[in-house]
Amino acid sequence: MYNLLKGKKGIIFGALDENSIAWKVAERAHEEGAIFVLTNAQVALRFGTIDELAAKTGSQVIPADATSVEDIQNLVDKSMEILGGKIDFVLHSIGMSVNVRKGNHYTTQNYEYTKIGWDVSAVSFHKVMGVLYKSNAMNEWGSIVALTYMAAQRVFPDYNDMADNKAYLESIARSFGYFFGRDHKVRVNTISQSPTLTTAGKGVKGIDGFLNYAEKMSPLGNATALECADYTISLFSDLTKKVTLQNLFHDGGFSNMGISQEVMELFMDKEEE
Ligand SMILES: NC(=O)c1ccc[n+]([C@@H]2O[C@H](COP(=O)([O-])OP(=O)(O)OC[C@H]3O[C@@H](n4cnc5c(N)ncnc54)[C@H](O)[C@@H]3O)[C@@H](O)[C@H]2O)c1
Repeated sequence: MYNLLKGKKGIIFGALDENSIAWKVAERAHEEGAIFVLTNAQVALRFGTIDELAAKTGSQVIPADATSVEDIQNLVDKSMEILGGKIDFVLHSIGMSVNVRKGNHYTTQNYEYTKIGWDVSAVSFHKVMGVLYKSNAMNEWGSIVALTYMAAQRVFPDYNDMADNKAYLESIARSFGYFFGRDHKVRVNTISQSPTLTTAGKGVKGIDGFLNYAEKMSPLGNATALECADYTISLFSDLTKKVTLQNLFHDGGFSNMGISQEVMELFMDKEEE
């Protein structure tokens, strides 16, 4: 380990179980010397195994529904008390679509569900940054990261309304990142991660197909949750101080591929091979 986050204080949203990307980020942040508060929605605290992670990393858990500004304010205030000062890094690792859960097709969404998914998956990022900004809770040269997926730029039909939520999320990172950078010297980025087998990942119809296709298309293969955590740590560290307003692809090269030989071979006529 490199002590990359020695003395840094953070808030990590979204660790549900050991498969969660946020779980791996918490483990890696702990190894790199950070102290942090873990948070998730009350219901996730009941069904998940976050207490195990808290014990392992010497962290406290504060419940917060990321759609509630009141909950987020309480979280930020208590985190500063517990950690003894302002925050250096925040991970937003939250996503949920009710339309996906209920099996509604993209073309026939229930718009009440659409609103809930949008609030949880995208607007919550604005709410988190809104509270941090207003409370002046971030240290200068702090770093805020949210996780996203390439369906924000390109069509992946089964990603459903999460594609639109991710596009909105990425736009919030740029728009809020401007004010956070100008006024507090805090950077804001999104990491666009490969498909990964987590609870949220498994919720996407055809995730196996996504995974296998992306694996065959990417020169370096799919990025794992642990590799995503490593990349996130680099963005929380002082080694990336001037990186901001970016959507950063962490996908083994998938996003810049047109076609790979491996995938092409699946479509060749036998005599041409
Ligand atoms: N798994 C993938 O294939 C993949 C790929 C790219 C990006 N991502 C993104 O990574 C992030 C983390 O997802 P994951 O794959 O680790 O799955 P996960 O299911 O482990 O994490 C999602 C988290 O969101 C939390 N959450 C849901 N509603 C909430 C609310 N109202 N308030 C607070 N928290 C709430 C859940 O409790 C859970 O901890 C998400 O933004 C997801 O879209 C995932």
